Amino acid sequence: MEAYVAIGNDSLLALNQLISEKKYSSVFILVDSNTRQFCLPLVQRQADLLISAPVIEIPAGEGGKGLANLEKIITVLLKKNADRQSLLVNVGGGMVCDIGGFSASVFKRGINFIHIPTTLLAMVDAAIGGKTGINYLEKKNVIGTYAEPDAVFVYPHFLNTLSARELKSGYAEIFKHILLSDSKWFHSLVGNPLNGFGESDLFDLIRHSVHFKKSITTEDFRENGLRKILNFGHTLGHALESHSMRGVRPLRHGEAIAAGMTGELFLSHKLAGFPQEDMYAAIVFLRNLFNHIQLKFVPDDLFPYLHADKKNSNEKIAFSLLSSPGHPAGVFYPSHDQVLESINFLLLEFSSAPVQ
Ligand SMILES: NC(=O)c1ccc[n+]([C@@H]2O[C@H](COP(=O)([O-])OP(=O)(O)OC[C@H]3O[C@@H](n4cnc5c(N)ncnc54)[C@H](O)[C@@H]3O)[C@@H](O)[C@H]2O)c1
Repeated sequence: MEAYVAIGNDSLLALNQLISEKKYSSVFILVDSNTRQFCLPLVQRQADLLISAPVIEIPAGEGGKGLANLEKIITVLLKKNADRQSLLVNVGGGMVCDIGGFSASVFKRGINFIHIPTTLLAMVDAAIGGKTGINYLEKKNVIGTYAEPDAVFVYPHFLNTLSARELKSGYAEIFKHILLSDSKWFHSLVGNPLNGFGESDLFDLIRHSVHFKKSITTEDFRENGLRKILNFGHTLGHALESHSMRGVRPLRHGEAIAAGMTGELFLSHKLAGFPQEDMYAAIVFLRNLFNHIQLKFVPDDLFPYLHADKKNSNEKIAFSLLSSPGHPAGVFYPSHDQVLESINFLLLEFSSAPVQ
């Protein structure tokens, strides 16, 4: 069943009605330490049926998306007698949506869940399309399911308390969606790189991203073909994100994807004919947006993660590339040397000192 998606600062008004109509046997809320403070009170103000629901809190940050917290969530559901008619409401960013969706999809072989994404990245990406997952042994999302929530409520008002760094992280996925879907919009964005997304209407960007991702994932829910295009930037990006989790200042998801897209634009140019001029325009745009990042690693650091990527086939590393803005070109399996070249390319772009 396709998820109901409501977008707008009046979207949460429908939550109470949905909960009472569906007659769930019990309702639980999942939050992290930040979303409990900044977002849960707003949700409960608009949906009073949630005021008495037990709240499960996990620590904030990517480290929260692991087996220990899965166990914590399942234990609460079990001890409080959740059954297959129960509902789990995930109030948080991509971390909470991923582990909450996963917990709900495996508990008693699947209970109902709703996403209320609270970061830009979760609104335009993580909460849409039904992928759930947790990290294991430093590998991103290696344990996961495909499971559709009953509904997703995109309430942009939450962005008021989000840090500038987290907001920018979400812009990376919005940029990816525009690059994949709309050549005209891409050219008007990169035509004015110093402004970044400054002059764009955030609501329009959110709406476009949600509708684009939803249209792809509705057609190919289990990623047998079309959906693979959404992995653009994510082969190198996930490797960078996993590797950075070992350091003192881990990359945010969107930051890793921005650097990953830079390497994969290079591969798109080399292997799929992506125009050089557009490649550099996109890279200048990304570098300006993420001028606070400085990457420090050697290419060999990434290969263990690249070889463990779940998209690989016959031990070859898979990349979803583009032939031009708005035109995905399918999946490619570059040679080791080509992958190495793409890592060196992105390193050159992202190794200079951050702009203060
Ligand atoms: N399932 C998918 O299709 C999909 C797609 C993209 C990304 N993801 C996953 O999403 C995760 C990243 O998501 P994210 O970037 O949202 O990170 P996140 O969930 O870790 O949130 C980032 C930080 O912002 C805080 N926060 C959240 N909402 C807030 C608010 N409104 N005000 C103040 N602080 C707030 C969080 O507590 C956290 O500290 C990664 O694990 C990634 O793998 C999943």
